[in-house]
This record gives sequence, C-alpha cells and structure tokens, in this order.
Amino acid sequence: MAGVRIVPTADGPNMIVGAVGLEWPSGHSISQEGEPDASGAIYLCRCGASKNKPFCDNSHTRIGFKSTEGDATAHRN
Ligand code: FES
Repeated sequence: MAGVRIVPTADGPNMIVGAVGLEWPSGHSISQEGEPDASGAIYLCRCGASKNKPFCDNSHTRIGFKSTEGDATAHRN
C-alpha cells in the first residue's frame, strides 16, 4: 500500500514512513534534515520528554515511557 504510514512503536515514538511535510503552527516548515533513518522513516516523540521536538531523541527510554498501558487498541489486528 503506497502512501504514508504512521506506526506507534512499542514504548517509543510514532514512526512515520513515507514523505510528509511537517509544519509549526505558524505554518513554517520543520526541517527534517538529519532525521530520517536508513529506511527513510522519521520518528516523532509521543512521550513528551524529547528535547528535539517534534522528533524523538530517545528520552522515552530515560523516563521509562510505556505506550501500551491503557491502550485498548494496542493488540488488535
Ligand atoms: S518518544 Fe522518544 S523522546 Fe519521546
């Protein structure tokens, strides 16, 4: 399936696969330079602790973020 996929990773960021544009509320573009991994995916923080928002900086590991607690849809197919 072509297009953009958003994959919440276990106890971590949202992985974004596919070309997307990111903007601040002001409408200014957010540079993604240096952010994509080898597959081209980018990772957006959902724990709130990143010092490089909106990107994940692995702070979720330091704070022990648990994404699946209370998520009733985490294990649906
Ligand atoms: S999800 Fe990784 S720093 Fe927040």
